Amino acid sequence: MIKKRMISAIKPSGHLTLGNYIGALANFVKYQDDFEMIVFIANLHTITVPQEPDELRSNLEEAAILYLAAGLDPAKATIFLQSDVHEHAQLGHILQCFTYLGELNRMTQYKDKVAKGETNLGVGLYTYPTLMAADILLYDAQFVPVGIDQKQHVELTRDLAERINNRFDKELFVIPEPLLEEVGTKIYDLQDPSKKMSKSDVSDKGCIYLMDDPKKARKKIMSAITDSYDTIQYDPEKQPGISNLLVIAASLKKVSVDTILMETQGMRYGDFKKYVASIVEETLTDIQSRYQDIKAQNVLNEVLSEGALKARSIASKKLKEVQSTIGIEL
Ligand code: TYM
Repeated sequence: MIKKRMISAIKPSGHLTLGNYIGALANFVKYQDDFEMIVFIANLHTITVPQEPDELRSNLEEAAILYLAAGLDPAKATIFLQSDVHEHAQLGHILQCFTYLGELNRMTQYKDKVAKGETNLGVGLYTYPTLMAADILLYDAQFVPVGIDQKQHVELTRDLAERINNRFDKELFVIPEPLLEEVGTKIYDLQDPSKKMSKSDVSDKGCIYLMDDPKKARKKIMSAITDSYDTIQYDPEKQPGISNLLVIAASLKKVSVDTILMETQGMRYGDFKKYVASIVEETLTDIQSRYQDIKAQNVLNEVLSEGALKARSIASKKLKEVQSTIGIEL
């Protein structure tokens, strides 16, 4: 049976977070048996905001090892570094030529930064969604497993694919679908549950990093903001902090929120937090122990170069087809 293809990526512009794990990485692992899984480290995307080279290199290496430590298996999934497959940038340029300024003006990442009054924004940040569209369309992927914040980018990708298919009157691109889980598509900041947990946070009290000392992560859960209802219910509107902790526990234990509600029935908040903190601590301890093993094995370069080779064989064919269709090849 031919497996359907999935593509996704993480942009290690900082250390990977528990949000990245629950909203993305853990799902890549879950789907690698039943889908043809292609995942990469989006290093070209990281430089859309300023980076220090040494810190960036270290974040990229950390992310790649974390892919493996989380359970991605190079024998099943194709894992590579985005810039090793030049076709991404090339198709990115081509897609820019089919994208309207108005479409990019509406993209929230750029819009939010403008709204916050940030100046000196690079053009790369503005055109970033077209590069992401290229990342996806190069591989004829049917599904793109992502957290909710990336849905808008996948929708733009669909629009571009349809536009270009119509313009040249052929099924040049597969129209991809965002794949969103039922829970965990947006993990919130522990200190401000109205905000997404994010690697670019200034204060790190509300954000758990996968490489945090597990004891420190435990403390972050213990000091998470809750409410004064003192009953454990899933109600993201009224009880966003408690609901966030329920989702974190359910996602990490791979059970439903209802199951967690049953297990924690009647607990006071202090005990409930201890319960969630133990699940988080255990998850981080496991991942980090595999991280150390993988690091010691020194296999990263081999995994990434084999992955790039496989990815290139798909991407180069697609790019040729695109170039020939639009008429830029002789
Ligand atoms: P990035 O690096 O911001 O996030 C990587 C993935 O993690 C998810 N995520 C979350 N999910 C739940 N709760 C959170 N708090 C949370 N924070 C992040 C994101 O939704 C995402 O799925 N542009 C992308 C990377 C990218 C990509 C691609 C993805 C580049 N090319 C092609 C898919 C396909 C990004 O910046 O993700």
